[in-house]
Amino acid sequence: MIATALTDMFGLDHPIVLGPMGGVAGGRLAAAVSNAGGLGMVGGGYGDPDWLDTELALVKAQAKRPWGVGLITWAIGDGILELALRAKPHAVMLSFGDPSPYASAIKAAGCKLICQVQDVAGAVQARKAGADVIVAQGTEGGGHGGARGTMPLVPAVIDASGSVPVVAAGGIADGRGLAAALMLGAHGALLGTRFYASREALGHDQAKQRIVNAEGEQTQRTRIFDIVRGYDWPNGYTGRALHNAFMSRWTGREDELAEQAATVSPEFWAAAGDGDYDTAMVWAGEVVDLIHKVESAGDLVAGIGAQAEEQLQRAGQLLRKP
Ligand SMILES: Cc1cc2nc3c(=O)[nH]c(=O)nc-3n(C[C@H](O)[C@H](O)[C@H](O)COP(=O)(O)O)c2cc1C
Repeated sequence: MIATALTDMFGLDHPIVLGPMGGVAGGRLAAAVSNAGGLGMVGGGYGDPDWLDTELALVKAQAKRPWGVGLITWAIGDGILELALRAKPHAVMLSFGDPSPYASAIKAAGCKLICQVQDVAGAVQARKAGADVIVAQGTEGGGHGGARGTMPLVPAVIDASGSVPVVAAGGIADGRGLAAALMLGAHGALLGTRFYASREALGHDQAKQRIVNAEGEQTQRTRIFDIVRGYDWPNGYTGRALHNAFMSRWTGREDELAEQAATVSPEFWAAAGDGDYDTAMVWAGEVVDLIHKVESAGDLVAGIGAQAEEQLQRAGQLLRKP
């Protein structure tokens, strides 16, 4: 068993956190990860109250162990944090923006505050806000994020985070990645793309199958899906998705897409509703190379934890007496 400050904080069997993937990490997936000994997170995304109500009720009904909920900080609307806190999560994770306006309400509710950051300045800000855990998210990851690579970012964030435990995210999908994160000094790993291709994840089977079939080279960071959906992300954030025909059509023509959004958006939303992933996006990271089938989340947590233990034992065997 691997014991770290993260596993101690939440009573976990494995230092594995589910990425709060908006619209993908619903209550069923979060509960499956938590019940398997990881930390399940509901992906509250942009904060749709009806969706959150449904998924928080599910996780509450199904999870027997600690779980949390993630929100996109810059998009938190009136009443959304209060709605999330009423479900009594053990942790709230804030990503993409200054967490300080929300920190005191989260802590007053008895929740741990987890902040996902994309650079060292973000880690300093999260620490000042009173983060209990800081997630250092590298650019290899699926979905929205920044420009820094996980390998150098994680130790730099650890150096800036003092005694606050750091979790690595971006580019981790198996026990080798988890062990590497621990070797960098992290207290655990947060995985998104790997859990997207799980049975309990929300989202189309076809999207999951595309992840299984894809290679890392076919992922690309882009703004076009935010432009067409009308999401005004702050500067510096892009999303990593599987390359598709819609990206081929609009990459390099972002301004034109913004001008034509009124006509292109309805087509886009219709395609998304039909599960047409030549048009709609599948957010996914470079780890798609390591994903060969859709599995149950519980098996994933147990398998990744066991493989990390083996890797750490092997690492110990590399040492020789001179
Ligand atoms: C489909 C998908 C949706 C995501 N949505 C969110 C989100 O709403 N909020 C968030 O903080 N992170 C989101 N992320 C990022 C994850 O929290 C995490 O940082 C990332 O997946 C880690 O990299 P990996 O995909 O290589 O595991 C998303 C990732 C994916 C793949």
